[in-house]
Amino acid sequence: MFNKMFLIRFVLVSCYGLVISKNVEAECKKSVPDTLRCENVAKISCEVLNKNYENYTKLEILNTNEPFGMSAFTNMKNLTSILIMGGRIGIIYTETFKDIPHLESVIIHTVKIGDIQESVFFNLPKLKTVVITNTDIPFLRKGIFRNVPQLYLINIENANLRYIQNEPFYDVPYLKELSLYNNLLTILTKDMLYNLENLVYLDLSNNSISIVEKNTFDATPHLSKLNLEDNQLIALDLDIFPTTGMKSLQTIYLKRNQLMYLPSTFFTRTPALQEISLSHNPWFCPCLFEIHRILNLYNITEIWVKEICIEYGRNSCKKPMPYSHRRLPICINRNVSDINCTNTYSQNLSEKYLKYTKEYDEFIGNNLEVFNVT
Ligand SMILES: *[C@@H]1O[C@H](CO)[C@@H](O)[C@H](O)[C@H]1NC(C)=O
Ligand SMILES: *[C@@H]1O[C@H](CO)[C@@H](O)[C@H](O)[C@H]1NC(C)=O
Ligand SMILES: *[C@@H]1O[C@H](CO)[C@@H](O)[C@H](O)[C@H]1NC(C)=O
Ligand SMILES: *[C@@H]1O[C@H](CO)[C@@H](O)[C@H](O)[C@H]1NC(C)=O
Ligand SMILES: *[C@@H]1O[C@H](CO)[C@@H](O)[C@H](O)[C@H]1NC(C)=O
Ligand SMILES: *[C@@H]1O[C@H](CO)[C@@H](O)[C@H](O)[C@H]1NC(C)=O
Ligand SMILES: *[C@@H]1O[C@H](CO)[C@@H](O)[C@H](O)[C@H]1NC(C)=O
Repeated sequence: MFNKMFLIRFVLVSCYGLVISKNVEAECKKSVPDTLRCENVAKISCEVLNKNYENYTKLEILNTNEPFGMSAFTNMKNLTSILIMGGRIGIIYTETFKDIPHLESVIIHTVKIGDIQESVFFNLPKLKTVVITNTDIPFLRKGIFRNVPQLYLINIENANLRYIQNEPFYDVPYLKELSLYNNLLTILTKDMLYNLENLVYLDLSNNSISIVEKNTFDATPHLSKLNLEDNQLIALDLDIFPTTGMKSLQTIYLKRNQLMYLPSTFFTRTPALQEISLSHNPWFCPCLFEIHRILNLYNITEIWVKEICIEYGRNSCKKPMPYSHRRLPICINRNVSDINCTNTYSQNLSEKYLKYTKEYDEFIGNNLEVFNVT
């Protein structure tokens, strides 16, 4: 531990003071114009990326196998983009990306990371996009994106992300797009989205989110598109939205969850809504009809795939629909006398739905509209 700390300190000092001369030509070389490619360099540091490379604007680091040194890029003052691919960095330290005044994009793809320290992109005045994909970051630390004044887009996808500490995004006033697609998140809270005042697009699809806490979206008042597809939601209450409503929210994707109902007041907090996806949820039929009535009333378009209507019991789904059947997601009924939406979740019905749709999956996409299970 002590040795490691000493080494870090030493590297830091050496890059500001005397630069250790070292022939690294063999490891880092020009690929296309303006692009320096470092392949199989064991450890990226400011000695490896020395002043010989000061005029490169793009850097590609392939298959590196140790954590980067502190201020590793400080000699490359003209860098605008860094691509890191392959290899095993283990940890990205706070000071790694220090002092790169023109840096606009960082892409980290298929690299074994494990941990990214707090404030890692601190004070990079031109940084606009950060993309981290196909890796393993169990959690996002508090303040990981701190003081990045121009940051516009963050994609952390397919990263086995399980947990987000409170306030990971801090002083990123221009962040417009955040994608956490294809991770393992189970809960969503206001504190995770803290300070995302100007966020427009939020993609949380294909996680395992079962809980969206009250007031979560108070943090993102300008959200226009919200993607919650492919999660484990069994209920969504209107109080996830601020009492004043989501005035910019135009699209919400809810496909492939376990929703059986939405409170009829849900849409009172989404006055700008234009599009919704609902399919592949075990909707209780009367609740789905109620949702459709509201969509019709407010001219909200359902984004749909061809689907069928199933019932458990008798054929109550056959009553006239406000829309053509082909626009309907599958819904499920206990029996023909179930005509009122009760806003309750039933594990039994949900399981029957899942069993049914698994069994009849091959029919989805055909022209079948009504299906009776007796
Ligand atoms: C970088 O560019 C400047 C100005 O064009 C030049 O003076 C300097 O020698 C270049 N540095 C290297 C290492 O090529
Ligand atoms: C790098 O930046 C310096 C000033 O910061 C500039 O003089 C030089 O021309 C730049 N080099 C390139 C290749 O843009
Ligand atoms: C969703 O995530 C699971 C597990 O992480 C993965 O196996 C699956 O391919 C993903 N689905 C899509 C559509 O990306
Ligand atoms: C409903 O919305 C569609 C497109 O979103 C639009 O073309 C149509 O004019 C709207 N109809 C009414 C009655 O507002
Ligand atoms: C329909 O289901 C409800 C709730 O399970 C039950 O109370 C009612 O008796 C059932 N009606 C018929 C006609 O089976
Ligand atoms: C459904 O709701 C209506 C109006 O609230 C009520 O009159 C009726 O009894 C309810 N039906 C059932 C089966 O609960
Ligand atoms: C759910 O199903 C189980 C067995 O399939 C049954 O014993 C139980 O009574 C059911 N519960 C309800 C609320 O229908």
